[in-house]
Amino acid sequence: MTHGVALITGAASGIGAATARRLTADGARGLVLVDRDKAGLTELAGELEIEVLTLVVDVSDAGAWAGVEQAAEARFGGVDRVVVNAGIADGSTITETSFEAWRRVMAVNLDGAFLTLQSGLRLIRLGGNGGSVVMVASAAGIKAEPGIGAYAASKAGVIQLARVAAKECAGEKIRINTIAPGGVETPIWTQAPFFRDLAQKAGSERAAFDQMAAMATPLGRFATPEEIAGQIAFLLSDDAATVTGAVLVSDGGYTL
Ligand code: NAI
Repeated sequence: MTHGVALITGAASGIGAATARRLTADGARGLVLVDRDKAGLTELAGELEIEVLTLVVDVSDAGAWAGVEQAAEARFGGVDRVVVNAGIADGSTITETSFEAWRRVMAVNLDGAFLTLQSGLRLIRLGGNGGSVVMVASAAGIKAEPGIGAYAASKAGVIQLARVAAKECAGEKIRINTIAPGGVETPIWTQAPFFRDLAQKAGSERAAFDQMAAMATPLGRFATPEEIAGQIAFLLSDDAATVTGAVLVSDGGYTL
């Protein structure tokens, strides 16, 4: 599997970092890694034996994207692959969600996805040879649960944005697909206060993940970031050449 040059947002941690490692192992020519976490980006770039451009950017900052496009074009002449991955979680019922919290989630997860997709498509078009995009949504964008209104709405938006983009771009041989993971063992959970309480009660993070998976995941476990990265790599690759506008649900059966 080769991937040319790939742009990944939210690359400093979790699924994004695992995808950067996976595409490197698959023989990518270069990576454009975007995150607001400078230290995390620098650490990851130091580990990857490949040409890497790191850009410290808040994906929801519309004014920052022209600079991302210019830097990626100057370094690599464009990109072939885009992974729209940066996101934040939020857990509160609708009446308890402040408008500020709603806006924060929508700004990062949906505005950020739109801005990444828009710039990513411009960078893919520079090559004139098509390309592919994977948008990281969530099972929460498909299945309703109490307490995740803003997050779920943002991820449902990502899924439909990707489907429209797939139809708009098919004539240019640009494929756009979505992955909708269920639980994935990343810092998005381990940094959450409720998870830290659970891990303390359960005795370890491992035990806490296992307890959460036992609640509603038929396969009885969450995914690792490496597993999700492998599935993203497949959707990006020419092995998925006839797949566009699809939603790959990777959730251990949670949405069944
Ligand atoms: P993570 O917290 O390990 O990584 C998220 C990365 O995004 C971090 O490096 C963070 O600095 C970056 N980021 C957050 N806001 C940003 C912003 N405004 N601008 C630039 N970078 C920003 O989380 P994880 O789990 O790797 O999440 C990646 C994506 O996967 C997210 O979109 C998340 O919603 C989605 N997802 C995660 C699941 C899980 O169970 N971990 C399940 C389903 C979807």
